[in-house]
Amino acid sequence: RPGSPFMFKIPSTGERPMRYEVLDLPSGLVCNENTGYITGVINEAGTYKTTFKVTNSSGTAEREFRIVCGDQLALTPHMGWNSWYVWENHVTDSIMRAAADAMVSSGMIDHGYMYVNIDDCWAVKPGASDPALAGEPRDANGMVNSNNRFPDMRSLTDYIHSLGLKAGIYTSPGPLTCAGHTGAYQHEEQDIKRFAEWGFDFLKYDWCSYGNIAETDSLSELQKPYILISEILKSQNRDIVLNLCQYGMGDVWKWGKSVGGNSWRTAGDLGLKFEEIGKALFRDGFDVFTDNGLHNYGGPGAWNDPDYLLIGYLSNWKGSTSPTPLTPDEQYTQISLWSLQSAPLIFSGDITRLDDFTLSLLTNDEIIEVDQDPLGKPGFRVSKKDDLEVWKKNMEDGSIAAGLFNRGDTKARVTALWSDLGISGKQNVR
Ligand code: GLA
Repeated sequence: RPGSPFMFKIPSTGERPMRYEVLDLPSGLVCNENTGYITGVINEAGTYKTTFKVTNSSGTAEREFRIVCGDQLALTPHMGWNSWYVWENHVTDSIMRAAADAMVSSGMIDHGYMYVNIDDCWAVKPGASDPALAGEPRDANGMVNSNNRFPDMRSLTDYIHSLGLKAGIYTSPGPLTCAGHTGAYQHEEQDIKRFAEWGFDFLKYDWCSYGNIAETDSLSELQKPYILISEILKSQNRDIVLNLCQYGMGDVWKWGKSVGGNSWRTAGDLGLKFEEIGKALFRDGFDVFTDNGLHNYGGPGAWNDPDYLLIGYLSNWKGSTSPTPLTPDEQYTQISLWSLQSAPLIFSGDITRLDDFTLSLLTNDEIIEVDQDPLGKPGFRVSKKDDLEVWKKNMEDGSIAAGLFNRGDTKARVTALWSDLGISGKQNVR
């Protein structure tokens, strides 16, 4: 937004060292030619067409890039990592720093991953016997305290920013978060002020104990805490993306944007039961294949969020991690479906322990292009014959991304008919 600190690291793959140059960079911004890190402040709203040029010993690559400065954040779906499904309530400052380091050393940053997000359990847990989590929830002025696992939040976000990444935090509109840590209830102004001072760029606002505060389950009660928090967020002089987490109640996709959400969880937790992740993803009540018209609601600045990418090593909820129970085909399916649906690509497995297959799924640029297409039109199903489905997403350049899925347990041939895709004649296919 005009006047807010701007941070963007140009994603680029290939041999280092590289030299970065940006043509037509809007005034107020500078690009570090050695790191490709663009920082500064744009004061005037507008759409700025720039060209990125990156040079190494093999030559120069260039690409047009639009920098859009205005009221709306998150014009493309968020890309990043979240601590929940691997570290759940064991998350610490050093885990977050190691995650940020890994986003760089794995190369994920070079494919556009940007947010390093702490989930629940950074705040004090009232009544906890564990000294790492116990303490005063707030200081004498009512400002929220982090627990002993997070000795200095500002130094943590400074570290994340120094790598060219952004930092996310989590809280609840209720008195307590889902895991029983301090929530923002009746301290909303103070907490957002504190998150802004700490330097956070992203907030996940998780309903949790607000269920005990809401007087009814009417739409206005469902919307109230989110309207309040988004107004407070907008009044900060830094840009903080707002992710609504209330599990899809009241068909949140129909109003998430109007209450200031940049994304909203469309359903419950996909990874709550480790052994049943596949079932949750593809067969359960909140099946992401459900034909519920969600695609009519997502768009630039406001995205459907079906939850995190559950690949790699995940918490098995028994005190350790295990490889995802999803089969390779199911993993291809999750990444493809999320990208076709313009969903946030937030990986929540162990980022410090990426095997080649997991990394290849996360860093497939052609798939990321589908997810991040600036037109921001989520895809939808165009045909279904028993277990076989075809999905389509319209892209900004006029092309179509098509997804062919076999949801059955046996091999099958899936056909995408031109008529289903809404095209005719000769077409180029990749
Ligand atoms: C809820 C959310 C999860 C996670 C946990 C943390 O279950 O849906 O994504 O944030 O709370 O306690």
